[in-house]
Amino acid sequence: MKGIVLAGGSGTRLAPLTIAVSKQLLPIYDKPMVFYPIGTLMNAGIRDILIITTPHDAPLFQKLLGDGSNFGVNLSYAVQPEPGGLAQAFLIGEEFINGEPVCLILGDNIFYGPTLPERLKKAADLKSGGRVFSYEVHDPERYGVVAYDENGKATSIEEKPENPKSSCAVTGIYFFDSEVVRIAKAIKPSARDQLEITDINQTYLEAGELEVIPMKTGDVWHDAGTHASLLEAGRFIETLERLQHIHVANLEAIAWKAGWIDETVLERQMNAYSNSGYGKYLKRLLDRRG
Ligand code: TTP
Repeated sequence: MKGIVLAGGSGTRLAPLTIAVSKQLLPIYDKPMVFYPIGTLMNAGIRDILIITTPHDAPLFQKLLGDGSNFGVNLSYAVQPEPGGLAQAFLIGEEFINGEPVCLILGDNIFYGPTLPERLKKAADLKSGGRVFSYEVHDPERYGVVAYDENGKATSIEEKPENPKSSCAVTGIYFFDSEVVRIAKAIKPSARDQLEITDINQTYLEAGELEVIPMKTGDVWHDAGTHASLLEAGRFIETLERLQHIHVANLEAIAWKAGWIDETVLERQMNAYSNSGYGKYLKRLLDRRG
């Protein structure tokens, strides 16, 4: 399965932070935001990843991430000239997708859960149709909201409904078969002139081909698109790292544990980051090997 990180957009809710710097390059505690969605794709076992950015920000992402070999993945880059909606990712990424299943993740979405990687891997083992994850939120009217029938089966997904039929939002990670490109080509821009991911989800749902997987108690989904949620995400990561001694989205650590990089690469990266907690975490991994 291929992976796409959608890291363009306008970031207007974070202005003026986002005037000079892309939202997804802002820090979530000790790492740039884009590390988190890349880490989530890696936890799903995905190694071929396309990063979509604004034309203006592309060089900064390339400087930060390179070709991905430092953390065992193959990165490609593409630009979205204007923010035309989440579903545009499948049109921009058509060549990259190349007839394979694909997972799209939003560049400002943070996922965490001790058992989440196993479920992401299962979701990535998709042969046909689509899979999305839902999460209970306090403010469903801001999201794509899932409605269920009396048997708990998803019946519709509405984008930012005034009267949400449930408190279950569709999170920003979507697994689709390669049909998604054809579907994205067929949908029309919405009233706000966006190609909506909800229209893609709804197409799969109407065909009886969308699995909506509820996230579990203990899982965390966080979109870091406002000042308060950016700060909250940073606090959450800081607390996890300080109290649980784990590093979320330490890309080299994920790659090392997966066997995607060898000791030489890990050691080089540890030395590159030796003055920060990120590098010290890598040193702990190296010291514990064998
Ligand atoms: P949003 O947070 O919905 O939009 P935004 O980033 O433009 O921010 P704001 O609403 O504050 O103006 O986007 C979710 C994610 O998807 C985020 O990582 C940006 C990305 N995105 C694109 O890359 N292209 C797009 O056309 C859109 C709409 C979003």
